Amino acid sequence: MITRLDARPIRRMVGCFSGQKNAVRWCPDVPLLEGKTALVTGPTSGIGRATVEGLLTRGAHVVLAGRSCKKLRALITSLEAEGYDRQRFTPVLCDLGDLDSVAVAVQEINKIFRRKPLDVLIENAGIMPTKYAETRQGHEISFGTNVLGHFALRAGLLRGCLSEKARVIVLTGDIYIFSKTCSTDFRWYTPLGGVSAYNRSKLGNFWVARELQRRYPRLNVFVVHPGVVATNLGAGGAVTQAMKRRLFIDPVAGAQTSLICATQPDLAHGSYYHNVFGEAELTNADPAMNDWEARQFWNTCARLSERDSAPQISQLRRAS
Ligand SMILES: NC(=O)c1ccc[n+]([C@@H]2O[C@H](COP(=O)([O-])OP(=O)(O)OC[C@H]3O[C@@H](n4cnc5c(N)ncnc54)[C@H](OP(=O)(O)O)[C@@H]3O)[C@@H](O)[C@H]2O)c1
Repeated sequence: MITRLDARPIRRMVGCFSGQKNAVRWCPDVPLLEGKTALVTGPTSGIGRATVEGLLTRGAHVVLAGRSCKKLRALITSLEAEGYDRQRFTPVLCDLGDLDSVAVAVQEINKIFRRKPLDVLIENAGIMPTKYAETRQGHEISFGTNVLGHFALRAGLLRGCLSEKARVIVLTGDIYIFSKTCSTDFRWYTPLGGVSAYNRSKLGNFWVARELQRRYPRLNVFVVHPGVVATNLGAGGAVTQAMKRRLFIDPVAGAQTSLICATQPDLAHGSYYHNVFGEAELTNADPAMNDWEARQFWNTCARLSERDSAPQISQLRRAS
C-alpha cells in the first residue's frame, strides 16, 4: 500500500510522531546479504551504528566510513566483543566535512574493492549544528557535510567500485517539509538557525537522490525517513537526552527502514520510504517534488564538489 503524504508541515509532523512507537515496520531477517558488500557513512553512532549491526547480522561485508580514527577503533572493538568476525568489516577514514578527506577515502575504497563492487551504499551520516560552522572548504556545515560530502563520495564511487545496479539509500528526515530551498551559502546566527540549516540540507539530500535516480536509472535509489530517533543528532544535555529516550524510538528501530531498503525485494526504486507509512507518495505541492530545483541543485553540487588538485598522498591514512 502506498500512502499519500500531506505537504502541510504540521500535518506531516503529527504523522511522524503519532503512534510512531507502535507503528515501526521491522525489517524481516531474510533475504540475507551473504556475498554482498555495503558501505555505511556515520557508522559510529545512532542509526548508523544500528544499521551496521543489522547488515552484519544478515551476512554482509560492511565498509565503515567514519570521520574519527578513535571512534572507528572503538566501534571495531565493540563489534568484535559482540562476536562479529573482524574479516567482515573494513574501516575507512572519511570526513564528509572535508572534500580532501573524501577524495582520499574514495581512492582507498575504489582500490580495496576494485574486484568486488559495492552492492549497497547507505548515505547515513548527518549533522544538526548548534552553532554556525563551516566545512574545511568553507561551506555551511550542514550543507557541506550532509549533502556535499556525500555527493563527492558517491560521485567518486560511481566512477569506481559502486555496482551499476547498487542500492543507494539516502537518509533525509521528514522535517525537510519546513524548507523550500537549500541554497549553499545559508548564514545563520540564532540557535534555531542550526535546525533550519539541517532541514534545508535534508531537502537537498532528497533533491540529489531524485536526480541521481533520474540520471542513473539502473541504480536503485531509496530516500528514507528513519523516524524520530533518540540519537546524538543535535546533541543536547542529559535532560534533553533523557527526554529523547522517553519520547522517540531507539536507534535499532530507527535503522529498520534503511535495512528494509537495503535488503527487501520488489521495492519501488526512486521512492520515499517512511518508517511509519512505508512507501510514500508526495503531492506536487511538496518541495521535494520540485524537479527543476533538483536539477539546478545537482549542477551546483557537482561544481562545488570538484577538486582542483589531487589530495595529498600524505593524508592517506587507514583506520584500523
Ligand atoms: N535522529 C533522528 O530523529 C533523525 C530523523 C530523521 C533523519 N535522521 C537522519 O539519520 C541520519 C543518522 O543520524 P543519527 O540520528 O543517527 O545521528 P547521530 O547519532 O548524531 O549520528 C550521526 C553520524 O554521522 C557522523 N558524522 C557527523 N559528521 C560527520 C562528518 N563530517 N563526516 C563523517 N561522518 C560524520 C557521526 O560521526 P561521529 O560519531 O564521529 O560524530 C555519526 O556517526 C542523519 O542523516 C540524520 O539526518 C535522523
